[in-house]
Order: sequence, then C-alpha cells, then structure tokens
Amino acid sequence: MQTVHTIFHLRSTVDQWRDRRERIAFVPTMGNLHAGHLQLVERASRAADRVVVSIFVNPTQFGANEDLAAYPRTLNKDSLKLAENNVHLLFIPEVEEIYPYGSDNTVRIEVPGLSGILCGVSRPTHFSGVATVVAKLFNAVRPHVALFGEKDYQQLLVVRRLVADLCMPIEIIGVPTVREQDGLALSSRNHYLSPEERRQAPALYRTLQWIGERLTAGVRDYDSLVGQGITRLEESGLRPEYLAIRRAEDLAPPQVVDSQLRILGAAWLGKARLIDNLAVTLKDQG
Ligand code: PAJ
Repeated sequence: MQTVHTIFHLRSTVDQWRDRRERIAFVPTMGNLHAGHLQLVERASRAADRVVVSIFVNPTQFGANEDLAAYPRTLNKDSLKLAENNVHLLFIPEVEEIYPYGSDNTVRIEVPGLSGILCGVSRPTHFSGVATVVAKLFNAVRPHVALFGEKDYQQLLVVRRLVADLCMPIEIIGVPTVREQDGLALSSRNHYLSPEERRQAPALYRTLQWIGERLTAGVRDYDSLVGQGITRLEESGLRPEYLAIRRAEDLAPPQVVDSQLRILGAAWLGKARLIDNLAVTLKDQG
C-alpha cells in the first residue's frame, strides 16, 4: 500500500491507473477505522481494480461546539488495517492541502432541503461541510465509484444528490450498517461511552426495530409510533434528539402510496451522540 499526503502525488498514481483503464474505487473516511469502514473497503475491492482510501478529519463538518479536537486519531493502526485489507493507496492530507484558502474561507457546497432536516436541525452546517469535502476529494481522486455507509443514511442521500446535481460521473454504492452483536451500530464515537452507557446504547436500534415491527404489522399512526419510541428511548436512559419515519428515497414525510420507508433516530448518551436508521418495506398501503 502506498501512502501519499498531497493531491499532486495522489494524482500521479491514480492517473497511471486511469491511463491503463483500471477502475478506481474510493472510500472517504475520518479514520479511527473499525469493521464498518473495512466493510466499505471490502465492497470497494469487489467493485473496482484499485481501492483508494482517504483519512481526513474534516473541520468544516464540525460545529463550533462539537468534538473536532477530541475526535479519535489512530493513524498507525488505521494504516495497518488498510494495508491488510488490500487497499492500494491511502491519502492522508493536511487541512491546508484540502483547504488552501482556509477552512473558514472555502468555496462551500450547499444541498438544499436534505441538509436542513433530521441531523441538520441540530447541526445546521454539517452537511454542507460534508458535501464540500466530498466534492473536493472526488475532484482530487476522480474515482469511478465511491462507497458510503447506510449507517449515515442522510449523508448517503446528500452525496447522491451532490453527484447527480453537479453531473459528476461517479457511481455511489451504499453499504449496509455493520453492527455489534447486541445491535449497536459500529461508530468511532462509541469510544465516548462509559461501560454503563455502552450497556444502554443498543436501545436505539431496538427502538427502531420495534417501530419497524409495528409498521410491518400494519400500524399506520406514525405520530403515535414515534411518540412511543421516544418514551422507550427515555426509559432506557437515552436523551432522544429526533426519531422519524420517512420516505427512503428523499427523507420526505411518507405518503400513503410510499412503501419504501426509513426509520431514523439520533440520541445522546453521556458525551456521545448516537445515530442509527432502519429500512422498512410496507406491503399493504392504506
Ligand atoms: P466516517 O464517520 O469515518 O465514516 C466513513 C464511512 O464509513 C461513511 O461512509 C460511513 O457511513 C461509513 N460507516 C461508519 N460506520 C459504519 C458502520 N457501522 N457500518 C457501515 N458503514 C459505516 O462519514 C464520514 O466519516 C465523513 O462524513 C466523510 C464522508 C469521510 C466526509 O468527511
């Protein structure tokens, strides 16, 4: 595995592959890699001849009071894991490489609608920061295909919209969420949980599953289901930020005709903000 720190060196390798007509897959990450990230890498190996991974803790997607400084950084371990998982090229840029005019002074990409709902309510600049860095990384790597986790479902839709609206010739593949045995979605932020909180944390996924089961059983009173879900989260010691049943395609409130839904939630547990979501297919509308 080759490791590069500049866009210049990244391009000189990737351009050679492109010239040989090799297919290039790209997995952007913020590091502190776990089995969820490695699942994306594994899927990337099946989708292309070459796999490029980036590790960049992107300042523009963190709010002023968020955990940018505390975000876990484990570069040596990450690098070993990627080398063991058949990654060809690791890109680890400094902030100045990605934001040469300063991260507060960058050209920004806004994704209207999608970025202001759900996670975007409490994190109003987050998805613009994600869209901006992903667009920059896409321009640096110029992959044929890029992979994103369904764990961050709203992010996945933001990236799909970015690529469609800016006519970027990149296929986006969504990869199902990798979970602990008790259902907790793997996340770098799970490290913030105390042992007691770690025991409480699976309640988020359990609540999504409970709502999913009620929907599959034919219950259609979404407001009541969400209300009961919030109570369940609170009773388990979590502080819910939102819980919602939405149309999977664009996260709009579901209409009677919609059968592909997504249940999404965010909740605080101590210092950790957990997010998760679950797909539901309705068989009998109306
Ligand atoms: P990060 O949180 O490091 O996640 C990198 C990728 O791994 C994302 O596509 C995310 O959805 C995926 N991922 C995380 N946990 C997962 C899990 N348990 N199962 C499956 N996939 C999982 O998301 C980001 O970084 C950043 O916002 C980024 C896209 C890199 C832009 O800065």
